[in-house]
Amino acid sequence: MAANNPFKVLIYVVVLCVVPCRCGAPAENPACHLNIIETYEDYEYIQEGDIMIGGILSMNALMIDYMKESDAYKKRMCVVVLPQYYRQLVDFQLLIKIINYEQSLFPNRTLGYHIYDSCGQAEKAVRSVLQILSGTREPVPNYSCVANRNIAGFIGDFSSVTTVPIAQILSLFGYSQISSGATDPLLSDRVTYPYFFRTVQTDHYHYLALSKTLKYFGWTWIGIIRVDDYEGGNEHQLLTKYLIIHGICADFTIKISSFLDTTPSGLNEETRNKQIIQKSSARIILLCGTVSAASASSLSKYTKELIERTLILSYALSVNYHMMDYAMEIFNGSLGFMQYLAFYLHGPSLKPYLDSLHPSNNPKDKLLQDIWMQNHYCLSKDKSKNEHYKRVYRDELRNCTGKERLTNVRYFDDALHIPQVAFAVHIMTHAIHNMQMYIDQESPIKRKNKYNYKFQLHHHFKNIPFEDNEALNFYENGEFVTHYRIYYCTFVSHKTHMEIIGVLLSKGPSDQQLHIGPFEVTWKSNDSQIPKSQCSDNCLPGFRKAPNNRTQSCCYDCVPCSEGEISNLTDSEKCIRCPDMEWPSKNRTICIARTEIFLSYTNDVISVIFSSISVLFFLITVLILGVFIIYRDSPIVRANNRSLSFLLLVSIKLSFLSVFLFLGRPVDITCMLRNITFGITFSIAVSSLLAKTIMVYIAFKATKPGSSWRKWVGVKLSNSVVLFCSSIQIIICMTWLAISPPFQELDLHTYPGTIIIQCNEGSAFGFYSVIGYMGLLAAVSFVLAFLARTLPDSFNEAKYITFSMLLFCSVWITMIPAYLSTKGKNTVCVEIFAILTSSAGLLACIFLPKCYITLFRPDLNTKLHLFRNKSS
Ligand SMILES: *[C@@H]1O[C@H](CO)[C@@H](O)[C@H](O)[C@H]1NC(C)=O
Ligand SMILES: *[C@@H]1O[C@H](CO)[C@@H](O)[C@H](O)[C@H]1NC(C)=O
Ligand SMILES: *[C@@H]1O[C@H](CO)[C@@H](O)[C@H](O)[C@H]1NC(C)=O
Ligand SMILES: *[C@@H]1O[C@H](CO)[C@@H](O)[C@H](O)[C@H]1NC(C)=O
Ligand SMILES: *[C@@H]1O[C@H](CO)[C@@H](O)[C@H](O)[C@H]1NC(C)=O
Ligand SMILES: *[C@@H]1O[C@H](CO)[C@@H](O)[C@H](O)[C@H]1NC(C)=O
Ligand SMILES: *[C@@H]1O[C@H](CO)[C@@H](O)[C@H](O)[C@H]1NC(C)=O
Ligand SMILES: *[C@@H]1O[C@H](CO)[C@@H](O)[C@H](O)[C@H]1NC(C)=O
Repeated sequence: MAANNPFKVLIYVVVLCVVPCRCGAPAENPACHLNIIETYEDYEYIQEGDIMIGGILSMNALMIDYMKESDAYKKRMCVVVLPQYYRQLVDFQLLIKIINYEQSLFPNRTLGYHIYDSCGQAEKAVRSVLQILSGTREPVPNYSCVANRNIAGFIGDFSSVTTVPIAQILSLFGYSQISSGATDPLLSDRVTYPYFFRTVQTDHYHYLALSKTLKYFGWTWIGIIRVDDYEGGNEHQLLTKYLIIHGICADFTIKISSFLDTTPSGLNEETRNKQIIQKSSARIILLCGTVSAASASSLSKYTKELIERTLILSYALSVNYHMMDYAMEIFNGSLGFMQYLAFYLHGPSLKPYLDSLHPSNNPKDKLLQDIWMQNHYCLSKDKSKNEHYKRVYRDELRNCTGKERLTNVRYFDDALHIPQVAFAVHIMTHAIHNMQMYIDQESPIKRKNKYNYKFQLHHHFKNIPFEDNEALNFYENGEFVTHYRIYYCTFVSHKTHMEIIGVLLSKGPSDQQLHIGPFEVTWKSNDSQIPKSQCSDNCLPGFRKAPNNRTQSCCYDCVPCSEGEISNLTDSEKCIRCPDMEWPSKNRTICIARTEIFLSYTNDVISVIFSSISVLFFLITVLILGVFIIYRDSPIVRANNRSLSFLLLVSIKLSFLSVFLFLGRPVDITCMLRNITFGITFSIAVSSLLAKTIMVYIAFKATKPGSSWRKWVGVKLSNSVVLFCSSIQIIICMTWLAISPPFQELDLHTYPGTIIIQCNEGSAFGFYSVIGYMGLLAAVSFVLAFLARTLPDSFNEAKYITFSMLLFCSVWITMIPAYLSTKGKNTVCVEIFAILTSSAGLLACIFLPKCYITLFRPDLNTKLHLFRNKSS
């Protein structure tokens, strides 16, 4: 046997038969100018009946011009019978047989058929329609040579190429037609084709399914290979439209010729195309256009370039999957789409029936004989046929045993077989039945034997019984809508495996129609996982897409989200701003609560230090106060107004305690208390010192005999100074509180990712008034004390006050720039530091020397010493 694989032979046939006709320029080939009578070899199936159904089905793959030396004229003949379409014919005949046998639809009437093979050729299809209408071998338009023939409607064809011209003719004559494969959107036009129906949907739906699948797998960067013909152009346009809608970009579109082009320009084109494919990063390649044996062979020249890429088949190729045999290596591991139909034509007797079909039982069935020759390599009884086979296929035939079976023929009894044609016949017969019932009901008296189906039958294509007693209705534009199956196709040891990996439902919300998986397939990729076909890598969460300088929208750069923004999805177009109180995590994928910044007791060492220091000083103050109380009658304590010293100690104690108002999470009330407490305690302290200085001054003046200052000496004056100065501060504070009190403030902007919880002064004027007034008091005390420092004074009080005020003022003056230039916690630290140092300074300068004398130099703490001092 020369070839075990019939398809190798077929490719040869294609090369042999197609190329010379396309490539040979007509002017040079004298055969093209011969005025010859063309004769078609017809494959005709006819069974007369009361009601006739016409059929145009392409059972042979192509038509060739064929001439023997002895022939006077060229003969056009069909070659390469397609077993799966022959199966459709068998279904057709079987269903008619069943209906005639059961007699349930048409009692006392028989159904007949008249079927021609169109060989996939438009002109042959047109000729066949006219032949059926006129009933003769030679077509006679609008004339029926068979007087009584009553044709109800037509079934056919599988491809748009042949179906469109038939539909044009039939709409002229008013015959209804059902196609089981034409997907051209043109045929949805109900004005031009009112009598046309189909059991499939238009290419629109196919491309919708395709685009959704691409989107599902994330294949946004694809290549397109289209067959350079009319269908290819149309489909490419439609495909582009759907790709754009779904945001899928084509890296390249190349055309392959619909025949084997061996001219130099054709070869150049091929080299260019190969380079384009090789350079492209697209791992997914779409095919569109009619895929014939010839274009499939053209495609096979790109085996090296395509073998590692996944192909997505056009609808025509998905349905005519036998075409894949022409380029098995390329199509091994490709995705196809097929419309699913829940219509079955089988019973327990189906297989025996199919097995019983044998050329010896059906001598008139030319297709059956061809199948035996082409698939079983059996010699026919007809000698000329054998000779003819040898010339065309260049293959040897053998004597067969008679045990060959039709069901063994590849593609005839396929698991994926859908009885599309039988389904069309089912619809047609029920429509005929519906129409008869309708007419009989309208006028029961005129019960007819013969009905005129022309221009009428198309009204009755509704309520056809279908699966689960559910009535079937065509869509308005004559389409029958069912779901799509997505399959993955592989060839293992020359057997086609179709793994169904998903469905696209026809009903439901459009985003819930696609269901993919589960599946177990070995994809064409390095790791056998689902291949990636993208121009740019996905942008991870935390990044967003940014257009780059390539023109295609599918190519982009990924840029990290800007500050304060997140993206939690892969391939985000935009980043989302986090809510005010939240902030992006480090990888900018989620918003997390911002860190709160304030001087907390628990987390900050500095607040522990500050609180320990203030407690320590507080205790020291308490100690000093104790000492002063114990020695309250000693001269040094009594000197210079004892009660002022107590007041000063108490206010210093309070100011140490006020440090605790600055620690911890600020709230409105602590914010108010902070400034007020510190302002008031310090002004009491400073005004006490002021009073003391004044007293030193007055005491000095009063020592002069007869001085009018004498009457000022006493507690009264000093108390009223303190009262007066402090009450001004109290008034300032109260006004501040009343007009614009301090409040808690959340500062989101100073440091990214943080919330500074701080006190807002409410009114800067209020704040600076308090500080300023305190400063004024301190300055006045300082000046007075400075002037009084040389005055003779018991225990040098004025000097100490000068020191303390110097310290106090310098602390607060340095504090102001530090206060203004820090933020958050640090500001608070500056404040606390200022409070602690200035209070400690007061304590140290005013009270330490006195304590030292009281405790360690009691010898100095005497009235005598006091007077000695004064007099010196
Ligand atoms: C069928 O034909 C027979 C005999 O011609 C007749 O008796 C019968 O009524 C017919 N049936 C129907 C349903 O017309
Ligand atoms: C077909 O012929 C019939 C008469 O036989 C005529 O009435 C009809 O108009 C013709 N139709 C067309 C389309 O020529
Ligand atoms: C198809 O691919 C499968 C693996 O996926 C391999 O086993 C098989 O041999 C291939 N068939 C052909 C015809 O290359
Ligand atoms: C087939 O059988 C016929 C007669 O039965 C014989 O003449 C012929 O040579 C055989 N052909 C082959 C190829 O075996
Ligand atoms: C697959 O692997 C080969 C070599 O190991 C490498 O050259 C090629 O780029 C890989 N293909 C993909 C799609 O990663
Ligand atoms: C994009 O622009 C940059 C510089 O502007 C250049 O280096 C790079 O090659 C360009 N990329 C493409 C794909 O044109
Ligand atoms: C992403 O963030 C948005 C808004 O914050 C939220 O509604 C959505 O659930 C998040 N998605 C995921 C996958 O986390
Ligand atoms: C980003 O960080 C968050 C926590 O900060 C984590 O839960 C998440 O898994 C991280 N995401 C990625 C993609 O690393």
